[in-house]
Amino acid sequence: MEVKELKAAFKETYNKNAEAVYFSPGRVNLIGEHTDYNGGFVFPCALSFGTYLLMSKNSDKKMRFKSLNQPEIVELELDQLTTPLEGRSWVNYPLGCIAQFVKRGIKIEEGYDMLIWGNVPNGAGLSSSAALEVVTAYAFNEQLGTGYDRTELAKIGQLSEHEFALVNCGIMDQFASAQGKKDHAIFLNCDTLQFELVPVKLQGVKVVISNTHSPHKLDSGAYNARVAECKTAVEQLNKVRPLKYLAELTEEEFKNVESAITDEVAHKRARHVVGEVQRTTDAVKALKAGDIEAFGKLMNASHVSLRDDYEVTGLQLDTMAEEAWKIEGVIGSRMTGGGFGGCTVSLVKDEAIDTFVAEVGKNYKAKTGLDAEFYIAEIGDGACRVE
Ligand code: GLA
Repeated sequence: MEVKELKAAFKETYNKNAEAVYFSPGRVNLIGEHTDYNGGFVFPCALSFGTYLLMSKNSDKKMRFKSLNQPEIVELELDQLTTPLEGRSWVNYPLGCIAQFVKRGIKIEEGYDMLIWGNVPNGAGLSSSAALEVVTAYAFNEQLGTGYDRTELAKIGQLSEHEFALVNCGIMDQFASAQGKKDHAIFLNCDTLQFELVPVKLQGVKVVISNTHSPHKLDSGAYNARVAECKTAVEQLNKVRPLKYLAELTEEEFKNVESAITDEVAHKRARHVVGEVQRTTDAVKALKAGDIEAFGKLMNASHVSLRDDYEVTGLQLDTMAEEAWKIEGVIGSRMTGGGFGGCTVSLVKDEAIDTFVAEVGKNYKAKTGLDAEFYIAEIGDGACRVE
């Protein structure tokens, strides 16, 4: 949908014009998976698709939320902004962000009519929820004149996810949505939140996203279990080596202390994290040196580790990656995001893209019964005011 059409939809819904239009993108992570909540490195980029938020102040002190994908308008009083709605309502994502302003002592004395629409495929692991959170945080930061920087807005989005969506996620998705830059990936240290924007200038190669159409369920179940398993590993390691995060260990150091992790599952999870942090550092070096082949090999190794040690892939993601690896002209391919369904990300030579789409699509369908969908990723900017 064009902004023009969204403004018309706003007018139709609320019988007045939208005063402001904001946008925040989804993201694709190139490498560095399940490292963020372990204090490690990630390397995501913002996409050109994301979530729009149109809003106008109202005079009746109500917060009204309308999504173009949902039939109803949800209306709340200004004293109802810090309590999550029951039943996993989509409103909890924006509401959880507004709640963070209130919790920081910011007085919200006026109501807003809001209309939301996004083009990030839902449940694809491309951070549609982070896009919704960050667009809300960005909009209210401006409307309320709070002056938080983009990193703070990412933290607001992450807290909304923790407290209102009950997912103990790391900071990667919200950070990428807030800080993204066109044609750059973000090399982020998730412990210090220091980051570097690294140009992604690929000569004759495209970033291709393959949607398994097997929705990932980033609910409080499997994802939070991984977070807890990493915590167990840290606790057991602490008997021999004081540390806060798994990412503090180099692979060499890990070899010396890994026997302290007596929980077998926690041990595998930790091995993935330590290896993935190293792979991410190596991948960024390779990209800077123009060694795209080395980058691709690290992507493949990342997938294998997420499959065997972290166990967040499954038939659909594994089939998608394995079928991609067979195609000549594929430089690397791996699952991206939380896992358990969703998307893979691949680097594919221009001349191989048609074969890639046809062959991977056909073989994926034969093995899983599902239709894949492919997008050529355009790396876009972070949150902004559109109008
Ligand atoms: C989800 C979470 C992120 C990150 C990834 C895995 O996208 O929201 O914080 O943990 O999974 O890398």
